[in-house]
Amino acid sequence: MKDSAKLIVALDFAAEADALAMANQLDRSLCKVKVGKELFTAAGPSLVRRLVDTGFDVFLDLKFHDIPNTVAGACRAAAKLGVWMINVHAGGGRDMMLAAREAIEAGASRPLLIAVTVLTSLSDQALQEVGVAAGAAAQADRLARLTHASGLDGVVCSVHEVAGIKQACGAAFLTVTPGIRFAEDAKGDQVRVATPQFARAQGADYLVMGRPITQAPNPRQRLLEVERALQQEKDVRP
Ligand code: C5P
Repeated sequence: MKDSAKLIVALDFAAEADALAMANQLDRSLCKVKVGKELFTAAGPSLVRRLVDTGFDVFLDLKFHDIPNTVAGACRAAAKLGVWMINVHAGGGRDMMLAAREAIEAGASRPLLIAVTVLTSLSDQALQEVGVAAGAAAQADRLARLTHASGLDGVVCSVHEVAGIKQACGAAFLTVTPGIRFAEDAKGDQVRVATPQFARAQGADYLVMGRPITQAPNPRQRLLEVERALQQEKDVRP
């Protein structure tokens, strides 16, 4: 049942107790959960194991980006936690991604391994400032092709890049999309955003939503609203 859940709720909390309180409100058949840098730094592997033991599919979103040997070791350690998905930054390059993949191949049941293309908080202008003249869409496309050629399972990208990436890398290559907002939601620091309906219409495999659910007055209710939106096929505005 939970394998069909397309929504990943980002548990971006500073304290373990807050994350667990939120997880307790979430229906495991409707969503997976994501543990990112803030929560992992505060609460560590024991919280990840606890979420896994409670039956959640856990995406450990630590976005490893280092030399190949270091990233391989980090991925090996992450895989031992029994998580469903882990990730690296595609910008770490082919050798780093190959080493990451090889490191988790040996385990009994390996997690899915995906790579971040371009953060959804980055605009074309912000990319130019760090020396990427091509713009977000072209850079995401380039890094997705490299990720695919390195044998990873998919990428994190913006909804707006999904169709092009699927065309270049094939339908089975996973796309995980943050920056999901209902029209009335605050964008926060996200720039390249889209609605849940638009994300599904574009063919995104998994949608990451944090604040619009975790900061809602009734997160359980919000989860159901997202689920309903994902069933609708008519409203496909970005
Ligand atoms: O609260 P919000 O819905 O913006 O949360 C988005 C989540 O997705 C955050 O945990 C963030 O770290 C993560 N993420 C992202 N952009 C990426 C990769 C991950 O926003 N490219």
